[in-house]
Amino acid sequence: MNLSQSNFLFILLLSILMADRALCIRIPDRISEGAKDTLDRPLKTAVFALGSFWRSEAVFGCLDGVVRTTVGYAGGAKINPEYRSLGDHAESVQIEYDPWLINFRQLLEVFWSSHDSRQVFGQGPDVGTQYRSIIFANGTEESRLAAISKEREQTKSKSSIVTTKILQLGKFYPAEHEHQKFELKRNHFFFS
Ligand SMILES: *[C@@H]1O[C@H](CO)[C@@H](O)[C@H](O)[C@H]1NC(C)=O
Repeated sequence: MNLSQSNFLFILLLSILMADRALCIRIPDRISEGAKDTLDRPLKTAVFALGSFWRSEAVFGCLDGVVRTTVGYAGGAKINPEYRSLGDHAESVQIEYDPWLINFRQLLEVFWSSHDSRQVFGQGPDVGTQYRSIIFANGTEESRLAAISKEREQTKSKSSIVTTKILQLGKFYPAEHEHQKFELKRNHFFFS
């Protein structure tokens, strides 16, 4: 294969990957049928950190049963973190979901399959403590499910350590507006 052929293949592959990624962007009029019923039902909230929050939001925003995603900062002590000074926080995604359509266990599966939990303090080229891997659990039942899923992940290979931390869900600071790329406002389609 010569250089231009391999370039062509690379571009072809890239466009397939990008097209796939584009499907994950939630636009209000593309909301799944099932999600319309959620307006009457209480939603649940989950928060995960798994690298760059733009990417994390796209991953979870795709899922049926996920009503809204918000990117932000969690897991640290700094008050009012910002993108350029997030202190000891990790880039995180907050997921509001309908527990009738998707549950915490399924969100955990997506969490594990969407990043490399064995990379220390980073994801791919994004290196830094703000890209660390964290499951934020609300209460003992979620902590238990998180711990079981982490153990299962660790048994897949013993040659490296799963770095993911399991922390109690504390304060989540939404990021600045410009980072909220894929946010879905429920009210948009409610009134339209
Ligand atoms: C944590 O769980 C409790 C009980 O299920 C719920 O009332 C509360 O809103 C949850 N907290 C968050 C931040 O989701």
